[in-house]
Amino acid sequence: MWSTTTLLTAAAAGLATLATAQTTVTSAASSSSSSSSPSSTASCAAGVHLIVARGSAEDPGLGRTGVVAGNVTEAISGSTVEAVEYPATIDDPTYFDSEAEGNAAMGALLKSYVDKCADGKVVLMGYSQGAQVASDLVCGTSEALFDGSDDLSADYSSNIVAVVLFGNPAHLGNASWNAGTSTEDGIFPRTEPSLCDPYADKMRSWCDTGDIYCDSGNDTSVHGTYFDKYTDEATEWVVSMYEAALSSSSSSSSAATGTAASDTGGSGTATGTAGESTTTDGSSEAEDGDDDSAGVALMASSVWGLALALGAGAGVLLVL
Ligand SMILES: *[C@@H]1O[C@H](CO)[C@@H](O)[C@H](O)[C@H]1NC(C)=O
Ligand SMILES: *[C@@H]1O[C@H](CO)[C@@H](O)[C@H](O)[C@H]1NC(C)=O
Ligand SMILES: *[C@@H]1O[C@H](CO)[C@@H](O)[C@H](O)[C@H]1NC(C)=O
Repeated sequence: MWSTTTLLTAAAAGLATLATAQTTVTSAASSSSSSSSPSSTASCAAGVHLIVARGSAEDPGLGRTGVVAGNVTEAISGSTVEAVEYPATIDDPTYFDSEAEGNAAMGALLKSYVDKCADGKVVLMGYSQGAQVASDLVCGTSEALFDGSDDLSADYSSNIVAVVLFGNPAHLGNASWNAGTSTEDGIFPRTEPSLCDPYADKMRSWCDTGDIYCDSGNDTSVHGTYFDKYTDEATEWVVSMYEAALSSSSSSSSAATGTAASDTGGSGTATGTAGESTTTDGSSEAEDGDDDSAGVALMASSVWGLALALGAGAGVLLVL
């Protein structure tokens, strides 16, 4: 999907970026994100509300993560699903701007949902660029080359029951929330992981050794394998987190007087699916996971040593 010229242009842009430092990279992010402050169209779910950010170059909608989202909605009745609307592009808009837009859009969906549904239980999910979106919403954006963004206030900790990440380019090899086999950093490693703390126990990040984006590896096939391998594991984990959250919120609201968010107006009565709620399939995106990643790898190459990165980039070009 990317021509050689495009890729080389991206690499060149990466070089320019290196020379001119972070400020030039994402100047469009704030203006573009202000144009999209979507609010959640979902009514309050009787079950869990899933907010899903697709990966780069996946068609609008849930992307491959939709398989996991669908399995969760089958397992927890009364659940709803909403897709984050954002470009999910590599170079137009740039990955950096697209990712920032996704972060703003996912944050707006979360906040508007919780404003309506104070007791609402929410799961954030993302694949690839969408995983970076979800993790940056929670942890703030601290990766090199990206505009910084705030981490998520702990005020949402009674609402968020799980954060599910697959193939996150901001992966850290030694994070406590890791799942899968990777022990290496991704191509855009998070630099302030302590900001994730309020949600660290609720986050799980699947990444396998060799993934060229989340593991800085050299195997282009790995990034597309998570939904074959981990769908059931992720689904079961989300269900267990949801059940744990329900039992802890019922015990804490019965024990104490002060739990402000509980039992405020009108939540909990809703029926299932609201406007944007989608069921899932992820079928049409089966092939594009690898392309997306090519551009990301080349951009990443600007960060960590061009020799190394261009070596990786050359490999990617051959694959394309
Ligand atoms: C998960 O969803 C997929 C796609 O709809 C389906 O084929 C599979 O059977 C589901 N798995 C479970 C455990 O429900
Ligand atoms: C993880 O590794 C980074 C360096 O890559 C280090 O600064 C940090 O202390 C490590 N964190 C843990 C929890 O081991
Ligand atoms: C890929 O990475 C593995 C482990 O990191 C290494 O052993 C192997 O030599 C690499 N292969 C290539 C073709 O670079």
